[in-house]
Amino acid sequence: MEFRTIIEPFRIHSVAPLRMSTPQQRSEAVASAGYNLFALRSDDVMIDLLTDSGTGAMSRDQWAAIQHGDESYAGSPSFEIFKNAVQALFPFKHVIPTHQGRAAEKIIFTALGGRGRSIPNNTHFDTTRANIEYTGAEAVDLVIAEGRDPSSLHPFKGNMDVAALDAFLTARKGSVPAVFITITNNSGGGQPVSLANLRDTSALCRRHGVPLFLDACRFAENAWFIREREPGQQDRAVADIVREMAQLADGMTMSAKKDPMGNIGGWLALNDDALAEQCRNLLILTEGFPTYGGLAGRDLEALAQGLKEVVDHDYLRYRIRSTAYLGDALVKSGIPIVQPTGGHAVYLDARGLLPHIAPLHYPGQALAVALYTAGGVRGCEIGTVMFGRQADGSELPAAMDLVRLAIPRRTYTQSHIDYVIEVCQHVASTASQLRGYRIVSEPAQLRHFTARFEPMG
Ligand code: F0G
Repeated sequence: MEFRTIIEPFRIHSVAPLRMSTPQQRSEAVASAGYNLFALRSDDVMIDLLTDSGTGAMSRDQWAAIQHGDESYAGSPSFEIFKNAVQALFPFKHVIPTHQGRAAEKIIFTALGGRGRSIPNNTHFDTTRANIEYTGAEAVDLVIAEGRDPSSLHPFKGNMDVAALDAFLTARKGSVPAVFITITNNSGGGQPVSLANLRDTSALCRRHGVPLFLDACRFAENAWFIREREPGQQDRAVADIVREMAQLADGMTMSAKKDPMGNIGGWLALNDDALAEQCRNLLILTEGFPTYGGLAGRDLEALAQGLKEVVDHDYLRYRIRSTAYLGDALVKSGIPIVQPTGGHAVYLDARGLLPHIAPLHYPGQALAVALYTAGGVRGCEIGTVMFGRQADGSELPAAMDLVRLAIPRRTYTQSHIDYVIEVCQHVASTASQLRGYRIVSEPAQLRHFTARFEPMG
């Protein structure tokens, strides 16, 4: 007998209180935050779905590993434990710890970037793009067409458009220092890349003599999707699929705040000796000595343990199912979302839900503020507020206006998610009454973090 309910494969061991609040209190809090959810005090949020990055719950065994941390400046045994755990999944020759993913990006693109160079990806995450552009290089997105269509049900919407990549590498011969592929494709909806696509991308890169790097933040979720959806992969251990993904690449950047279950951390790993030496020298400038990078010994130990836990099949079955649980309930309620549901988040299609709000009046912001005010649920606008401002200061609608509800790992229970579903249903039932926003102040760059808004009359 198999039961239908997939339960959380853990018991709660330590709890943090949620402060309950009323719609009136939340209206006041969000008004004084200039209607920018990044400016809220997190105490004023009940269910925080702003990000799955660094917000998960560590396990008992990770907290125990923290006690084992050795804080020696050089040659700490905690580094060996960390390096072995990384290499058990990603057998790259050099492992360079950093304080988070973007620090690894900064280092590798300082080494590889520069004016006249181009770095393709399925879809660059915003810090990846920003770190490439900061060096004067160009960041190019080459995801398959289905990956840009919110309603396409393709099982691997994160796949690289291999034909487009081939044409790009031919046209830009000599000016592409590396190809990246993001697993899962966060900016494209948390969608996975298939093993077949990784094999094709890898073979193509090798034919062109260009190294392939993984942006591997959500590698275990990607591998679980491969196991579930890709013909012939059903009987494999996720750890084995991960190792194959790594063997197809020449290096990786990593934010350990995602699948490695850390509250902080990251790394850069690669095979090329000369490039690794250059990267270690850059690491020493801003992050620290190569056996700790930007981390404490205890952080390295917690990550080593997290890497063992994240490839557990019971965990991944629960993780992917519980994200789909939210997505399925919203679809059933007629609320438009990016389909199929990704690994770490559900992306609400605010433009679809609020067709009466023009993109330049920020339907994603309107929806995110409404979810917060109605139920204390904090999501993140991913749309015209985030991407609409052009280099010349003008404004254009983003490709989509989405609100991401990202699920922190092992943090919220099914009743929390049932509550989120109810809040979404309530807000959707009042959609026609929601109004757009205008920006009253904004910085020159990355405006979504600090802009202030006011509701339109
Ligand atoms: N790459 C991807 C695909 C990411 O999703 C992130 C972070 C990074 C790189 C950068 O890592 O934050 O450790 O410096 N994504 C978070 C998010 C912030 O909310 O999606 P970091």
